[in-house]
Amino acid sequence: MTFWDFRAFFYDRTRKVFPINLIFKVETQNITLLLSSINKKEATVLDVASGTGAIIPLLSTNWKTLRIDSSFSMLKKASKKHSAVVADCNRLPFKPASFDIITAVGLVEYLKSPHSLFKHFQNVSKSGAKVIFTYAQFNCLNILRNLLGHRVYTHESKKIEQIYNQTGFIKEVQRKSLLQTQVLLKKV
Ligand SMILES: C[S@@+](CC[C@H](N)C(=O)[O-])C[C@H]1O[C@@H](n2cnc3c(N)ncnc32)[C@H](O)[C@@H]1O
Repeated sequence: MTFWDFRAFFYDRTRKVFPINLIFKVETQNITLLLSSINKKEATVLDVASGTGAIIPLLSTNWKTLRIDSSFSMLKKASKKHSAVVADCNRLPFKPASFDIITAVGLVEYLKSPHSLFKHFQNVSKSGAKVIFTYAQFNCLNILRNLLGHRVYTHESKKIEQIYNQTGFIKEVQRKSLLQTQVLLKKV
């Protein structure tokens, strides 16, 4: 059993506990704001590291969404409304130029380097595609998160920006919350 298979049992419940619920509330508001600046009536969406599907209710119902995650236990906690595939984010099993929108919320902080992730995003996204991702900035709280049992990698904004620029994305909107930076990118 992996860390995330174990976390699947209480992941959604923990998010409702004070003060974690307040942290997630702001993160959700920021993701909603980023999503509101995507003007796509119809789109194919890839939700990477979808987990229990926390951001699915924020997505337009006109969009066709595919969820992927490396943990089957996390994926199966969500409603069966959207297709879901067990896959590692560093080996995305999709044809080039398949998606109009990619979301990866709460993933980059578990990757030592997100370089390969952005190369995959570049490959599977269509021209002009949008990517919403989050990363953990360096601060005491994020360092303390290491005590929860899984290594949390904090990333410097400059380094992250360098990586997504090098892989063909530019930043459109950025927001910050206590533990996370939320970014909307456009594929150039
Ligand atoms: C903090 S949860 C975020 C879940 C969801 N996106 C959310 O916002 O609630 C992190 C998720 O990343 C998944 N994950 C971690 N490493 C992964 C990898 N290498 N490939 C795919 N998924 C991964 C875990 O299984 C877990 O479901």
